[in-house]
Amino acid sequence: MKNSRIVGVGHYVPERVVTNQDLEKLMDTSNEWIIERTGIRERRFFDYKKDTCSNMATRATKMALERAGVDAMEIDLIVFATITPDYLFPGSGVLMQRELGLDKKTIPAIDIRNACSGFIYALSIADQFIKTGMYKTVAVVGSEIQSSAMEFSDRQRHVSVIFGDGAGAVILQATGEEGKGILSTHMHADGTFAEELYVKDPGSSRKNEERLTPEMLKGESIRAHMNGNLVFKHAIVRFIEVIMEALNTNGKTKDDIDLLIPHQANLRISNFVQQKLGLSDDRIYNNIQRYGNTTAATIPIALSEAWEEGKLKENDLVCLAAFGSGFTWASALINW
Ligand SMILES: CC(C)(COP(=O)(O)OP(=O)(O)OC[C@H]1O[C@@H](n2cnc3c(N)ncnc32)[C@H](O)[C@@H]1OP(=O)(O)O)[C@@H](O)C(=O)NCCC(=O)NCCS
Repeated sequence: MKNSRIVGVGHYVPERVVTNQDLEKLMDTSNEWIIERTGIRERRFFDYKKDTCSNMATRATKMALERAGVDAMEIDLIVFATITPDYLFPGSGVLMQRELGLDKKTIPAIDIRNACSGFIYALSIADQFIKTGMYKTVAVVGSEIQSSAMEFSDRQRHVSVIFGDGAGAVILQATGEEGKGILSTHMHADGTFAEELYVKDPGSSRKNEERLTPEMLKGESIRAHMNGNLVFKHAIVRFIEVIMEALNTNGKTKDDIDLLIPHQANLRISNFVQQKLGLSDDRIYNNIQRYGNTTAATIPIALSEAWEEGKLKENDLVCLAAFGSGFTWASALINW
């Protein structure tokens, strides 16, 4: 059985920088409140004339391919994580497949919609396909355009100051080297809390004429509903649990972690996890200050930037962890 290894990382973020001061002009909020409660200073919003969920993912994947020295034609599976796909269906995976010119090769494209845990869920699925020998090179991406679905109003201010747009990708390949690459992945879900962080409409389980109504467009049911306090409380418990699960599975302790890359939900959540695990500042990676929460894209964007900064070195023990809507949570332990 072969392990899978991340051989290339890449990311793409839209050019448009939106600061907290920009948001102050749109709703009753303040730069101070946003920084104090979330750590976020700015985020990127897409340009509808040139950015789409799938083309941002394609650009991130091309960067990852180039850095890995791998040709796009070698990819034999795409696993695409997003909750903001280009279309309701088909998924964005097939659009990226076409943009990469892989439609001629008819490789499969799987779409994953596990929100903030989406990238690690996608990575885990890709890892299993490589372990079984079915595929040798897999592109795993997370891409989100949150800004087009957000409402910049007082009633939605607790949501719309948090999220941003962006994409990240990794290229995963089989490795014959013992103990290298992805050591284990761990996924969990608890549907009890599905409605604590969700977008209700336009849902399918209702009468035809009730699926999309003019009232719906005025109301909040087409926007994200988030019980921020409850999400926060569960997140800090599950993050620690799932990180410890990954370490215990591999006979490692928190002292062995070289770099923790947590899903970028809120800097206060990351700081809590860091403190609980006793990690020094150089052993945790945060970039939420510049991008906000890009849902499935936070971890691959962070991986790509950490790599650029020389923070991912051969044989480093790297831990990825996420928590989000579902609730779902997940981790991956990697011998880089
Ligand atoms: C959303 C979140 C930042 C709110 O922070 P909080 O400290 O829990 O704040 P609360 O919701 O208790 O609100 C405190 C006050 O700030 C106000 N407030 C909310 N959003 C605000 C904003 N953007 N600007 C200014 N004030 C705001 C609230 O109305 C409330 O006012 P009140 O005390 O007069 O009622 C925080 O709960 C959070 O980050 N939770 C996790 C969310 C998350 O991670 N989501 C992504 C899933 S992975």
